[in-house]
Amino acid sequence: MQTVSVSLAANPYEIVISSGIFPQFGEYFKKWVPGARQAVVVTDTNVEPLYGMKIAEILADAGIANDLCVVEAGEESKCPEVAQMLWERLIECGADRKTVVVAVGGGVVGDLAGFVAATLNRGIPFIQVPTTLLAQVDSSVGGKTGINIPQGKNLVGAFWQPKGVLMDMTSLQTLDDRQYRAGLAEVVKYGVILDADFFAFLEQNISAVNARQEDVLARIIARSCELKAQIVIEDERETSGRRAILNYGHTFGHAVEKLCGFGTYLHGEAVGIGMSFAAKLAMKLEPEKKELQELSERQDALLEALHIPTQVPDLPRDAVLSAMLHDKKTENGTIRFVLPNRLGECVMKTVEGVESFI
Ligand SMILES: NC(=O)c1ccc[n+]([C@@H]2O[C@H](COP(=O)([O-])OP(=O)(O)OC[C@H]3O[C@@H](n4cnc5c(N)ncnc54)[C@H](O)[C@@H]3O)[C@@H](O)[C@H]2O)c1
Ligand SMILES: [Zn+2]
Repeated sequence: MQTVSVSLAANPYEIVISSGIFPQFGEYFKKWVPGARQAVVVTDTNVEPLYGMKIAEILADAGIANDLCVVEAGEESKCPEVAQMLWERLIECGADRKTVVVAVGGGVVGDLAGFVAATLNRGIPFIQVPTTLLAQVDSSVGGKTGINIPQGKNLVGAFWQPKGVLMDMTSLQTLDDRQYRAGLAEVVKYGVILDADFFAFLEQNISAVNARQEDVLARIIARSCELKAQIVIEDERETSGRRAILNYGHTFGHAVEKLCGFGTYLHGEAVGIGMSFAAKLAMKLEPEKKELQELSERQDALLEALHIPTQVPDLPRDAVLSAMLHDKKTENGTIRFVLPNRLGECVMKTVEGVESFI
């Protein structure tokens, strides 16, 4: 079992990572929210039969009364209408300030249920049980919750830290291949921007990672959570700019995601393409730095070995540029990129004349 402490001054909590740990959820629940007697488990239609119902039963066996709320699987559920339905359901279930919202599912369920917990009664306790790799290494760490509105993704939200996060490696065995790889792209990202040894560990364990070997998975998930947690502790509310380095590969990735039509590439797949682009951009900006060429080659080789796309699809250059200019990471018309300096270290750079690099 691995435990990662997220030592935020006001809301410290732990992330517990292990195989076959779900049966102990009742004990963690009582430890993380002492005295709580009621829970509402939020899950989606795919995760309900796999893990949602089990978590609800485990809580009931531990003496915690609970209701199960199931939303349609998919990004469309991260919307005001579904949030409203959940607020209403929680009130019907008799929720008060001590009721705990338990999110069982991927990033959609985590962001949505976290937002509902952050806003009902001005904030009620929340526990995350992430079941996708992306949710385990990314969305369940850091306290960002939110929903989409027609004007944009994640435009309405709140910072709301969970009381605890429980991850069971066995839940990843049922995840489909593309979803699994999309999560791996964010794992590779942490290695490139923050930890060269971790990057090398991934290179050395490609077949175990592809085979979803649980001991290796536990290590990479724990390290990813540690690295993300460290950044979040340094910049909890995205005010100092430090947290922005987590957007490595995302400026170009978001443009690809948007221009190809959301859904053509999963977010993580687009991030793979974005990282490949960003490393090449860094290389072209500083051609004398040989280590950048090596970094770009090693990164592409690792992404490809993990079956994450790196090839930029054929897109009109002007459209890519304008999509990047509209991305929220841009300032005054110039484009700010997170670019690698060397393996394990990156910087924010304002790049002019990006069109000549696309
Ligand atoms: N809050 C943050 O900091 C943050 C960071 C990154 C991404 N996000 C958000 O996360 C969301 C994406 O999360 P996601 O990739 O987990 O998507 P998701 O929640 O839609 O899950 C992907 C699919 O896998 C299914 N699923 C979940 N667990 C499963 C399992 N164990 N076995 C089989 N199927 C399973 C789901 O039902 C869904 O169909 C986006 O909305 C994104 O904005 C948030
Ligand atoms: Zn991402």
